[in-house]
Parts: sequence; structure tokens; C-alpha cells
Amino acid sequence: MLKIINSLSHHGLCLVLAQLSLGNRPDKLELTEEEWKERLTPAQFRITRKGGTERSFYNKYYWHKKEGVYHCIGCDTPLFSSETKYNSNSGWPAFWAPIVCPDDNQPNVKLIPVERPDRIFHEAKCITCDAHLGHVFDDGPPPTGLRYCINSVALNFTEAPENELEDLEQ
Ligand SMILES: *[C@@H]1O[C@H](CO)[C@@H](O)[C@H](O)[C@H]1NC(C)=O
Ligand SMILES: [Zn+2]
Repeated sequence: MLKIINSLSHHGLCLVLAQLSLGNRPDKLELTEEEWKERLTPAQFRITRKGGTERSFYNKYYWHKKEGVYHCIGCDTPLFSSETKYNSNSGWPAFWAPIVCPDDNQPNVKLIPVERPDRIFHEAKCITCDAHLGHVFDDGPPPTGLRYCINSVALNFTEAPENELEDLEQ
């Protein structure tokens, strides 16, 4: 986590990402299993609350190239900007950094270490509602070298308003 923040600040990217993260640090959202079942579709529940994985390639955002913001399906926290999306050839949407909240300079995606006999990687979760989003590996592109491999089902895309896009191009 620290590595990501340092890397982002080092490259002056905090500001760019902060511009996209409209709003303040959201309060934590904790619901019961029954409440999540009511709020989410069965696929959304299986993936975000039970740590499941959707089909590769045949998912909503793998080929998606519009400019805007990907929000958490569980709580609407802005998680990733299209500015950091790239094609990883993996079959799932991939990003090289999460959105950082300007309120506290913390990323909106938290990382939990997963230890396997052959390697260590991270689980990616929403900071607000603890939704399982996907996994993070260290074979991503510059500037972070990270690959946030995320289930489309865990995301809800909103197109950037015109004025926000102009700001980004300056
Ligand atoms: C997805 O975002 C749109 C706004 O762009 C909103 O109207 C819609 O309710 C959101 N969907 C879910 C499932 O949260
Ligand atoms: Zn969430």
C-alpha cells in the first residue's frame, strides 16, 4: 500500500487521480449477509461478498474504453479511473492504480496479502464496504508496475462529464 502511494506521489499522479475522486472519504458501510443479498444480484453477491471470480473475456468491462470512473457496485465509492485502465490480455479489466481520496490521501482500494507456496500477491477490496474486487499482481505497466485485475461485476461505470475530461487533458 505504501509503495503505491509513494510511487503515485513520486510521479505527480496523486493530483490527477484526486481530481477524479469527487467527494469526501465515505463512511464505512457494513450490512448483514441478508441485506447484501437484497441489494445485490446473485452474481454480484457471489463475487463481492464471497470472493468469487467471473468468466474471463466475456464480462462487461474487459473491452470497455470510455473515459470516466468505475465505482464500487456495493457502495458507489469511486475506485478506478479510465486514465489508469490498460489491456492486460488477461480477460479481466486491469488498472495500474486505484483512485486516491483527496480527503486523506488514501487509496479507495485496500490490499490484503495472499500467501501461496509459490508466490505472494494481494486481494483487492473496497475500502468503504469491504467488497472483494479482484487481485493485484506486480506484473503491471509503469509507473506503478502493478496490475489491479478486477471483476467487471464488482464495478459500475459512469462516464466523465465534458468539463472533467478537459481538465485531464491539460
Ligand atoms: C450505476 O451508476 C449509475 C449512475 O451513472 C446509477 O444511476 C446506477 O444506479 C448505478 N447502478 C448501481 C447498481 O449502483
Ligand atoms: Zn464498496
